[in-house]
Amino acid sequence: MPMDALPTLLPLLDKARAFLAGKGIANARREAEWIFAETLGLQRIDLYTGFDRPLTPAEVDRLRDRTTRRGKREPLAYVLGRQPFRSLDLAVGPGVLVPRPETEELVDVALGLPGPEPRRVLDVGTGSGAIALAVRQERPTWSVTATDASAAALTIARGNAERLGLAVDFHHGDLANHLSGPFDLVLANLPYVAEGERALCDPETAFEPAEALFSPDQGVAHMARLAADLPRILAPGGFAVFEHGFRQGEAVRGLAPVGWTAETRRDGAGQERITILGRPGA
Ligand SMILES: C[S@@+](CC[C@H](N)C(=O)[O-])C[C@H]1O[C@@H](n2cnc3c(N)ncnc32)[C@H](O)[C@@H]1O
Repeated sequence: MPMDALPTLLPLLDKARAFLAGKGIANARREAEWIFAETLGLQRIDLYTGFDRPLTPAEVDRLRDRTTRRGKREPLAYVLGRQPFRSLDLAVGPGVLVPRPETEELVDVALGLPGPEPRRVLDVGTGSGAIALAVRQERPTWSVTATDASAAALTIARGNAERLGLAVDFHHGDLANHLSGPFDLVLANLPYVAEGERALCDPETAFEPAEALFSPDQGVAHMARLAADLPRILAPGGFAVFEHGFRQGEAVRGLAPVGWTAETRRDGAGQERITILGRPGA
């Protein structure tokens, strides 16, 4: 990165911002501030009162390294090693999908559904544990099980659960095949990007595991396999909630077993992104 070791904060911050903007990062100022604040152990607001702060050579090296990584379009969450999700601060890194704001809406939808108290919840494809941990944190009496096919993701998810002091029962395996249930709520943000859309993805996704993003059959293969298993694991009166691509609402509604309900919710941007399949009560 073309940035000399400078003795004070402001010139280095300006260079980092310009560097990131030149790499096509839309919120270059905010991201540069974030990198600097995190690296120096400051609040972003403190940067403005510390423009003359002298920086040690070790700090400059660390700032340069992180800014360079971000300039290569590595996700900011990987560079900083953490990502906020609802009220949680999750550790993330290579090997796990960076939880997205859209998925926070899936949690809202799930928490708003009717059902027994306390509820038995399953998060399929848990990744960093985002959905499972948020549900457990916001509904502490509910029992939460989470599963993933990726051992690397589960290591990160278990670490998050331990650090946050949230009890989630983690499992390793293909979808829910190794679990018996019954569950009152099955939540799934499974891979749903069609292989053909790989070229349209942000450069940052190239750093994320492909098995967390892509699914055959126009992106619905994973959801279709899980939906076919729902009559085995979902309790009568229960719901399955799927996050999916904005063009997949109709296809996901079509996965509902015969006699079940299917409803698609629009996200804050008006896109069909979440579909709820409901099993009739006993
Ligand atoms: C889109 S990511 C979502 C991660 C997390 N739920 C979130 O919202 O941030 C999909 C997750 O599904 C997992 N996955 C992919 N194929 C799977 C399978 N066959 N069985 C279980 N999990 C799978 C991936 O490892 C990845 O963690």
